[in-house]
Order: sequence, then C-alpha cells, then structure tokens
Amino acid sequence: MKTYLVGGAVRDRLLGIPVYDRDWVVVGASVEQMAALGYRPVGREFPVFLHPKTKEEYALARTERKSGHGYKGFEFYASPEVTLEQDLQRRDLTINAIAEDDEGNIYDPFGGQQDLQQQRIRHVSEAFAEDPLRVLRVARFSSKLAHLGFRVAPETCQLMAAIAASGELEHLTRERVWAELERSLTEPSPQRFFQVLKDCNGLQVLIPELDLLLSGPESDTAITALQHCASLNASAAATLATLCRFISSDRSIVEPMLERLKAPRQFKDLCLLICQHADSLLHIEQLNAEQKLALYEGLDLQRRAERIPQITTSCRALAGLATMDEPFPQEQQLQRLCKTINSIQPAALAAQGFKGKALGTELRRRRLQALSQQEQA
Ligand code: CTP
Repeated sequence: MKTYLVGGAVRDRLLGIPVYDRDWVVVGASVEQMAALGYRPVGREFPVFLHPKTKEEYALARTERKSGHGYKGFEFYASPEVTLEQDLQRRDLTINAIAEDDEGNIYDPFGGQQDLQQQRIRHVSEAFAEDPLRVLRVARFSSKLAHLGFRVAPETCQLMAAIAASGELEHLTRERVWAELERSLTEPSPQRFFQVLKDCNGLQVLIPELDLLLSGPESDTAITALQHCASLNASAAATLATLCRFISSDRSIVEPMLERLKAPRQFKDLCLLICQHADSLLHIEQLNAEQKLALYEGLDLQRRAERIPQITTSCRALAGLATMDEPFPQEQQLQRLCKTINSIQPAALAAQGFKGKALGTELRRRRLQALSQQEQA
C-alpha cells in the first residue's frame, strides 16, 4: 500500500499559496486493511477514512461512473488494483490531478504542472461531466486564481456549456451550490465566479436575477464593486450584500433569491439591510432628522451596532472606493448619528417618570430634537 498527497494541497503548494487542508489517496489497500490500521471510515458515498492521529482524509483509489442524476447518481469502484493514474483520471481538473509521494516525487500524468505554469484551468477528461458541481468548482477556482492570471481553457468552457444545456445543474442540491458560492465570495476575484457561470449559461439556471444583472447596463459597475469588496477585505456577507444592491433596492425581489439559495440568516439580514438602506447611508448628509432616525431604526443600530463595519465596507464598495485609506465621510457621519441617538436612552426617561407609550413618544421627540441640533451645529 502507498499513500500520496493529492488535490488542492499539491496544487496550492506548487503555486506557492497557503495550503489549508490535505487530502490523501491510498493505492493498493482494501477497506479491511485500512480499518485494521486504525483508520476511521467516514465516507458515506465513497471509501474515505480519517487518519487515527492527524485526522486528515485518506481515500482509497477509485474509479467513478455516473449512473443517474445529481450527486447521488454515482457508482464507484475501489479496490487494491485501482492505480494512481486511474484515480487521477476521474478527477475534475488537471491542476487538481497531481499527486506527490512521501519522498517528494510528483506524479502528473495529465499535464497539471504545465497548466499551472500556463495558468490554465482545464478538465482532465470527459468524466468531468459526471459531477455537475464541477461547473461551479471551475467558477470558484477562477475566483481564487484569476489574479494570478488563470483562465478557463476554451475546451473546458465548451464542456461546461454543454453540461449547463443538458439541465444537469438543476439537479444540484442548494446546499452544494451555496457552499461553492459562499467560498467564492472571499476569494481575490469574487466577480469571476459569476462571470464564468454566466459565460457557460449556468448563471441563468442557478441565479437568474444575477444573470439579468450581468446582461444589463449595470454589469460593469457591479463587477467593479465586487472587485472592490475583495480589495477592501469584505466579509462574504458584505460582498453578497453589495451584489444584491445592484439587483434591486426592493426586498421583495432580493429576498426570494436569497431564500432559494438557502443563504444563512446572517447573510440574508445584511443583504436586505444594504438593499433597503445603502442609498440613504450613501447620501446621509442630505437626510433630515426624521430620515436619520429612520436609517438608525432601519439598520437596527440600537441592538446591532456590531454590524456597522460590514455595512460601511459594503457601502464603500458601492461608492466606488477600493481601499480603506480613501476618505468615506459617510462612515463618520453614521457614527456621529449613532452617538447622538444613543445619548438619549429609555432608562433615563423611565427614571424621569415616563412609562409605556408616553416613554416611546418622548424618546422619539428628544432624539429628533438632538439630531436637529446636531444638524445646526
Ligand atoms: N474532486 C473532484 N471532483 C469534485 C470534488 C473533488 O475531482 N467534484 C477532487 C479533485 O482532485 C480535488 C480533490 O478531489 O482536488 C479534493 O477536493 P476538495 O478538497 O473539494 O478541493 P481541493 O481541490 O482540495 O481545493 P480546495 O480545498 O481549495 O477547495
């Protein structure tokens, strides 16, 4: 039995970028041998084990054949006779099909190193089509590697277009789509994820709202804003929120899209806040006291002040700013507004004898008064 490091760990080390997790392939072993060596079986679909000490993933070399729709429609064949080359051949991309043994020897039967040098994202074989998620993986790797000059090979673009046209993308679970999307949002070129999917006609199936946006007049501005999000180091949620603002300022359009994508609560909340309130924040200096209070309440800053940095980062990107060094006076104005409003708290009014509805009315009156005074100062 022999083990090799494979996949992203070899790819990223050869590229000189940080490696976060390591996957191994085991050739010449059976399920029983692995169990006898103390490896813990974890794969439900495939024979995958965790190393007893390092807890890294070790998969038995296997071949795969598709037998139906979606992720579940796989038959695999793992046995001690399956060779390293056979295992590498069923993988998605040449740059992911490079193996390294424990003496540092590289096994690269499909030209992965050459594609790394020529910055090419290229499929290994027609078996790429057996897992439609690979279309999204190519889009994600594009968002991760475009800044290093990587582009999708034309023949891979063609194959991805054929997969999109076949209707296979519709069988992907929403969780798997979301996982790729979410990871792309914090890569150096998040916009590439959407552009690559659009180019193969996959975006219209997966997120038609975004396909429409990227076909329209705001496309270039939206793409630039996403690039700014990356240079501003925006969170995944702030980046998605920035994109959502370009779709619409109407929550009834954005909300169903986020529901369909199964975006977690924290993403949904931020996206809807940005859609509805980014314009007010960007023009905060033009707001009157009533509108300022409405902005504070709309953003729920009484309870959720910790969201301010995410909100302002997204608004910076929307304002066309690419760095934190450029002045963004709206941020200080928002902070000043919060300070003014927070200086009047319900507890102080309760101590003065205000109760129930009267307390609410008085709180609002005094806060508006303080905001007007601040405007005049
Ligand atoms: N793989 C594949 N097809 C998939 C998923 C994974 O061929 N749909 C193979 C690729 O060889 C990939 C390896 O399994 O490199 C490990 O997959 P994964 O850990 O998901 O991704 P990495 O390529 O390691 O990259 P990253 O961790 O950056 O996502």
